[in-house]
Amino acid sequence: MTLDPKLTKLLNEQINNEMSSSYVYLAMAGWFERTPYTGFAKWMFAQSGEETTHALKFYQYLVDRDAKVELQPIAQPKMDYSSVVDAFEYSLKQEEKVTQQINDLYEVAEQVKDHASKNLLLWFLNEQMEEEKTVRDMLDRLKLAGNDTASLLVLDREAGNRPGAGGGPGSGGRP
Ligand SMILES: [Fe+2]
Ligand SMILES: [Fe+2]
Repeated sequence: MTLDPKLTKLLNEQINNEMSSSYVYLAMAGWFERTPYTGFAKWMFAQSGEETTHALKFYQYLVDRDAKVELQPIAQPKMDYSSVVDAFEYSLKQEEKVTQQINDLYEVAEQVKDHASKNLLLWFLNEQMEEEKTVRDMLDRLKLAGNDTASLLVLDREAGNRPGAGGGPGSGGRP
């Protein structure tokens, strides 16, 4: 079954959205690296890797459906944040935006009755729900910690121990 042209276009756009997300998180990791919070830097670095994986999942889907891959330029991400909470708030907004994008994509897949695409997008919708929850939970606790450095460092250590957050340049873990 040929992939609907509108759906093809939107799936290509989603590759770009995921790569843009990856770039946002990489910029955030870089910002955190210049603060004492190396755990959050690792968290963001791992998140950047996850977003790249998402982009590649959409890429592979287009290839598997024999549709044309058309890549667009990636915009420069926001480079500076005013606080840890500010960065995580931006992260939550980023995830909510992506959830909306995938939700819209699902609607188009439904309109053109492409059930295989719906299946792919359902996986992403669940993934988005999880990611939003993870960020929201951390944000809640960051707000609770406020300016208490000791509490922030506890959360930072926890963030650094998050599964998949072992990576980072020079750490010997993933990318
Ligand atoms: Fe993603
Ligand atoms: Fe995400």
